[in-house]
Amino acid sequence: MTTQASPTEARLCIREMTIDDLSEVFHIGEEVFTAEYSPTLYRTWDEYEITTLFNSDNELCLVAEREGHIVGFALGTTVEKQRGPWKYGYLVWLGVRPIVQKGNVGQGLFRELRRRMHEQGVRMIIVDTATDNHAAISFFRKQGFSNPRQHVYLSLNLTRPRKK
Ligand SMILES: CC(C)(COP(=O)(O)OP(=O)(O)OC[C@H]1O[C@@H](n2cnc3c(N)ncnc32)[C@H](O)[C@@H]1OP(=O)(O)O)[C@@H](O)C(=O)NCCC(=O)NCCS
Repeated sequence: MTTQASPTEARLCIREMTIDDLSEVFHIGEEVFTAEYSPTLYRTWDEYEITTLFNSDNELCLVAEREGHIVGFALGTTVEKQRGPWKYGYLVWLGVRPIVQKGNVGQGLFRELRRRMHEQGVRMIIVDTATDNHAAISFFRKQGFSNPRQHVYLSLNLTRPRKK
């Protein structure tokens, strides 16, 4: 199913990602998920991120297309805890070409993803991003997300001699 956006964004089409879209999505991801975006290895953008989610959750892998070009994408999945009754949606990657950012592309993608997750029985959507990614935090707040919690990452360099 595809969704035509409102008349003000007349040519924006949100649709499921197909195999032909993979390389374009990968390159947009390279533009937005740079080393600065993700200084830890916890979230690293690579081709496996796309293909894994594409294979497991095709209905939750969306692209935004305008005039035949992909301008953004959203890749999501769902998570069910063994002993919990709730199904969670996890928006893993959301990226919009820098040149069209702040033009409601991200919002269009998120709304369609939310609709699909809701249809799949999701009761809560979770997202994560770096604490200094103010654009994303502001974006997610605008979409209704709240209750942010911080997470600490530690690392151990195994190439350095160990302190006694
Ligand atoms: C976060 C991101 C997806 C937002 O996409 P977008 O298409 O630019 O966002 P939209 O135009 O739909 O913005 C919707 C609302 O989000 C907020 N917002 C978006 N970008 C913002 C920014 N740079 N600064 C402050 N608020 C912002 C605004 O409230 C905006 O509503 P408004 O235009 O009425 O003020 C985009 O900035 C991006 O690709 N960032 C790099 C990758 C990333 O951080 N992804 C998220 C984590 S996976």
